[in-house]
Amino acid sequence: MTDTPRLIEHAFPLKQTSLDSVHEKNVRHGHISTLHIWPARRPLAACRAALIATLLPDPSAQPKPEGMSDENWQQEIIRRRQELCEKIGGKVVKKPEKKKMPNGQVVERDKESTEGGILHWGRETENAKELEWFRQEIRKAYGGWAPRVLDPFAGGGAIPLEAMRLGCETTAVDINPVAWFILKCTLEYPQKLAGKSWPLPGFILENDQFMEAFYKAHPQLVGRTKKTKKQLEKEAQAPNMFDRPDTGHAPKADLAWQVRAWGQWVLDRARRELAGFYPVYADLEPVDKRVPKPFEPQPMRLVPLRENGTPDTEALNAEFGKEYLADLRNPRWVAKPTVAYLWARTVQCKNCRASLPLLKTRWLCKKDKKRVLLTMKVVEQVGQAVGQAVGQASLPGHDREGQAQRPVPPEEDKEFTPPKGKEPTPPKGKESPLSQKAMSPLPQKARSPLPQKAKSPLSQKARSPLSQKARSPLSQKARSPLSQKARTF
Ligand SMILES: C[S@@+](CC[C@H](N)C(=O)[O-])C[C@H]1O[C@@H](n2cnc3c(N)ncnc32)[C@H](O)[C@@H]1O
Repeated sequence: MTDTPRLIEHAFPLKQTSLDSVHEKNVRHGHISTLHIWPARRPLAACRAALIATLLPDPSAQPKPEGMSDENWQQEIIRRRQELCEKIGGKVVKKPEKKKMPNGQVVERDKESTEGGILHWGRETENAKELEWFRQEIRKAYGGWAPRVLDPFAGGGAIPLEAMRLGCETTAVDINPVAWFILKCTLEYPQKLAGKSWPLPGFILENDQFMEAFYKAHPQLVGRTKKTKKQLEKEAQAPNMFDRPDTGHAPKADLAWQVRAWGQWVLDRARRELAGFYPVYADLEPVDKRVPKPFEPQPMRLVPLRENGTPDTEALNAEFGKEYLADLRNPRWVAKPTVAYLWARTVQCKNCRASLPLLKTRWLCKKDKKRVLLTMKVVEQVGQAVGQAVGQASLPGHDREGQAQRPVPPEEDKEFTPPKGKEPTPPKGKESPLSQKAMSPLPQKARSPLPQKAKSPLSQKARSPLSQKARSPLSQKARSPLSQKARTF
């Protein structure tokens, strides 16, 4: 097929492609976009539709049936185009759904989605026959050969992946080495290594959670297993899962499980190295809140880290006895998930030497009924004082919904008002009334023993996550949890 008109030049299932592309953006599991972040990834649905409509000839390229009038042939062409578009994208249907609006109101409305077609993520297996039909049609259009598709700017590989799915001979190119590697992992390795298996790496055998999931997925496999206390307990409950002889060698696993194992390896190391920069805080609260026992609320506490970088809530709760903790109505420290970390460059106050974050605004949320203000207080550190975000303020009377809306108790709030004459002074040109109000005075003992000659803000290398990363792991480890706290605003 050389210069015949293609379907895309005359018709395209635009609405269906848009709907299925939007749906795909919400997929969190199994999609190629979850392998590695890459900018401007195109939805697979859009690539698939564009490829089919580009590779298939337009019905007008077919010969007119004998005896058919021109007018009838034109109508027939339109009908065939519509038929093809529907085969690709399916039909648009409306289904009623309830949606919570930003103002909290729940409205009922019609939601459009597709029915049929071959674009919808997750319907690949049920659409196998239709997909095969398109493969054959594409081949037919190219004289029985698989057409060649070249994507010279392949990025995350959406277009070449779909071209492969449609049976094309595909070449993907990208100038960026990261994209090149993503392309290898998306397009090449799964094909080359499908069906093969290798023994799991030794380090992963020690990971209870991983091995449990692995044996759940492969109940027939045997291999070296290190039975932990937890596993032994579970073994008593579900004997089949752990009832396998220890062969002394690791069980064999396919590519997907090898990727999971090595992904865990990377994650463990990254967590160990970066955990200090992403502190976790805990709230004092009961686990069972149905019949609450009265207790004195306390400010949030920083959760210490284990050697592997995971938060150690048990260490915080060590102050409570076993019996006390057994009663779930008793308050204990519960680690709270962090919604987001704000990184900011910092400058040192010429006056009090506190490090101030340079933030455009302290409003974390400024909706009609939801107002969350970032608050700061000075914390002590060896030879240095730093500003730190400790809590979130919401306007009085607003609902408490998750950590971000935690109302700040009045006594905590007091800390935000510095006594007269002690306000930290932001550098010239960076002043903001908000940040001035927010900082409390630096306690005398926290001041640096360094001579008072005020360094210019410029000379105080503004800290950025990058510069922190560049430090050696040793110096990171050496920091106290307080100092870890210090750089997160
Ligand atoms: C928008 S991205 C492609 C995204 C891709 N379609 C997807 O869905 O994942 C554009 C890609 O073009 C690559 N690129 C830019 N200039 C290039 C060049 N001169 N040669 C090859 N690749 C290039 C970039 O590295 C980037 O990955």
